[in-house]
Amino acid sequence: LLEALRDAAGMTGTKEGCLTGDCGACSVVLNGRIVDSCLVMAPEAEGGTIQTVEGMADGQNLHPLQKQFLQHAALQCGICTPGFLVAAKALLERHPDPTEDDIKYWLAGNLCRCTGYEKILHAIQDAAAELRASSK
Ligand code: FES
Ligand code: FES
Repeated sequence: LLEALRDAAGMTGTKEGCLTGDCGACSVVLNGRIVDSCLVMAPEAEGGTIQTVEGMADGQNLHPLQKQFLQHAALQCGICTPGFLVAAKALLERHPDPTEDDIKYWLAGNLCRCTGYEKILHAIQDAAAELRASSK
């Protein structure tokens, strides 16, 4: 599925890291579930709904998670970032007010070699607060 998205569909937002299901860089939401797209055969996704990082922004308006990742400088090389964003969006849709442990648990399958995790954690907490405030 990762190759189909990147090479056939030209949607290169989803990144290739390990190709062994360990890093989460290739995370997408397939039929409502987070999957490592490097472990999914493309035909398994046929007819399904796939959400990738390309679908997060509303035109020129970045999703609050994307804005907060920039605000907190929660990325360096950026290879892990789409996976974190897709996973964090799925988390906040299920748990709008997650605890720190909730975030750590949910993102346990996403690895970053560059930033450490504090900035990512704070970006997600601030995006969650922004989304809660905007839904009132
Ligand atoms: Fe798929 Fe690392 S590239 S989990
Ligand atoms: Fe480089 Fe996360 S920003 S791996």
